[in-house]
Amino acid sequence: MMTDLPPILLVGGGKMGSAMLAGWREQGLASAIVVDPSAQAAGLAGPGVVVVPSFGVIPAGFTPEAVVLAVKPQMAAEALPAYGRFAGRAVFISIMAGKTMRAVEHMLGTKASIIRAMPNTPAAVRQGFTVAVAGAHVSATQRKLGERLLSAIGQIAWTDDEALLDPVTAISGGGPAYVFLLTELMEQAALAQGIPPAMARAMARQTVIGSGALLAASSEDAAALRIAVTSPGGTTERALAVLRDDNAWPKSFAEAITAATERSRELSD
Ligand SMILES: NC(=O)c1ccc[n+]([C@@H]2O[C@H](COP(=O)([O-])OP(=O)(O)OC[C@H]3O[C@@H](n4cnc5c(N)ncnc54)[C@H](OP(=O)(O)O)[C@@H]3O)[C@@H](O)[C@H]2O)c1
Repeated sequence: MMTDLPPILLVGGGKMGSAMLAGWREQGLASAIVVDPSAQAAGLAGPGVVVVPSFGVIPAGFTPEAVVLAVKPQMAAEALPAYGRFAGRAVFISIMAGKTMRAVEHMLGTKASIIRAMPNTPAAVRQGFTVAVAGAHVSATQRKLGERLLSAIGQIAWTDDEALLDPVTAISGGGPAYVFLLTELMEQAALAQGIPPAMARAMARQTVIGSGALLAASSEDAAALRIAVTSPGGTTERALAVLRDDNAWPKSFAEAITAATERSRELSD
């Protein structure tokens, strides 16, 4: 039987923080404090969950076993150093894009147990993909807790190579945007072919949703599912010949990921 999660302190209850909180609630959340000054965050309060506007008003005596850092990276230097007081017992889980393990250690103290993780927005429906790196001071028990908290929002994979988080940011971090762009382009192409707007919208959305569900339900590779749609000499084959031309999607997708990976490196500190 799944036991309740231990006490958690969530710093930043925005899009990502609130998605994580929703996942933990499903896992059995006994007690959590959310620190967030915004008016919307007040709505996160509920059984066992208290929302406070700042570090200074965290009830004395609250001893979290995990402190999840989900503020915007630009707020980090100002907001986070105070939380170093929880180092020792608690494992810190930072989901801040571009904030390296070293930068987070610098804010919290070099002995802090830190997991750096990069989730993506399907976390909001518990379908995220997160890549995580555990720092040198993270114990086996803390890593297990980190795994439990992060897998509450989808799949998780671990790496020992922090440098991989730049391409991870480019692929799974930004990936939902590429799929949404594909949906937009499909809708626009449908309109250009004379399909009425409501039908074009529904068709593009459901094609992406249904393809994702088919992928999820199948053990086949994406390539096999693609081939299954592609009759020799047929219409899909004609379209794929355009899209898979060396100068089309294979080239532009590789270039896009390289550009995003480089940008992630530029933004890191
Ligand atoms: N969205 C993504 O795809 C994604 C993917 C991976 C990682 N991340 C990372 O996740 C983190 C959160 O992103 P998000 O999209 O959830 O941002 P968000 O929606 O802006 O959430 C951040 C929240 O933190 C609050 N906040 C501001 N100052 C604070 C402070 N001093 N103490 C506590 N809370 C404070 C903000 O309140 P106000 O609105 O009042 O400022 C806001 O509610 C970022 O570091 C981002 O890099 C995001």
